[in-house]
Amino acid sequence: MMDTNLPIGIFDSGVGGLTVLREIERRLPWEDLLYLGDTARLPYGTKSRETVTRYSLQAAAHLVERKIKLLVVACNTASAAALEDLQARWPDLPVIGVVEPGAKAACAASPNGRIAVIATESAIAGGAYQRAIERINPWARVNGRGCSLFVALAEEGWLDGPVVEAVACRYLAPFLEPGERPDCLVLGCTHFPLLVAPIRKIMGADAKIVDSAECAALDVENTLTGMRALRPGTGGKGQAFFLTTDDPARFARTGSLFLGRNLPEERVELISL
Ligand code: DGL
Repeated sequence: MMDTNLPIGIFDSGVGGLTVLREIERRLPWEDLLYLGDTARLPYGTKSRETVTRYSLQAAAHLVERKIKLLVVACNTASAAALEDLQARWPDLPVIGVVEPGAKAACAASPNGRIAVIATESAIAGGAYQRAIERINPWARVNGRGCSLFVALAEEGWLDGPVVEAVACRYLAPFLEPGERPDCLVLGCTHFPLLVAPIRKIMGADAKIVDSAECAALDVENTLTGMRALRPGTGGKGQAFFLTTDDPARFARTGSLFLGRNLPEERVELISL
């Protein structure tokens, strides 16, 4: 019998997955959340599939050991590389990635199946988004582009201004070519929601932009509802706990940006994997 009071475990390569945590918190405010950011080994987005899978299994094992009722892989690169390995390793634990929910939302938002995906180099090279979209809509035309520099800009807190716009313009220009304009653009990386304003500036005010964080939070709610594993509202507002594999002060500082509120350093525990 599932203990509904257990926290939802969430992991990412660093602080980017806090955009997913924020959406889960908004949707399910009474749930406890246990977040692990593997900042010591960030970025995952430029590493091989084997390495990302090994890191993901280690991060997930730590959360499972602390006891969780559901695991969210709040990292597009890790979801793309390791979701199936994680599901196979813990067959009784629901494991939700961010790629599948993002792909579903993209197909719903794209009547003509012309979908652009921006993500890390590794996530695009592995083709997970492309495959997930084509499983839902076999006629879709998916145009993927690695935009790894966006990760560094978001980490640095550079969210607007001429440098960010120049980078965005260079990455997104191919989608503006005649005949290449997509019906929707998927933000296939945890860091990209922070850059939605400059991205929208280049793509146009009316561009449809899908944020995989929002879609994943909805998937978490649906899964827990289906399992009858939601924490009852009578338990009061849930709490979030934070674990990091490197400097808690930096995690708290950059994490506050992604979380959209102050994250005190005392709330962040240093662990090793
Ligand atoms: N969290 C990663 C993702 O969503 C971005 C950061 C990284 O490369 O580790 O793909």
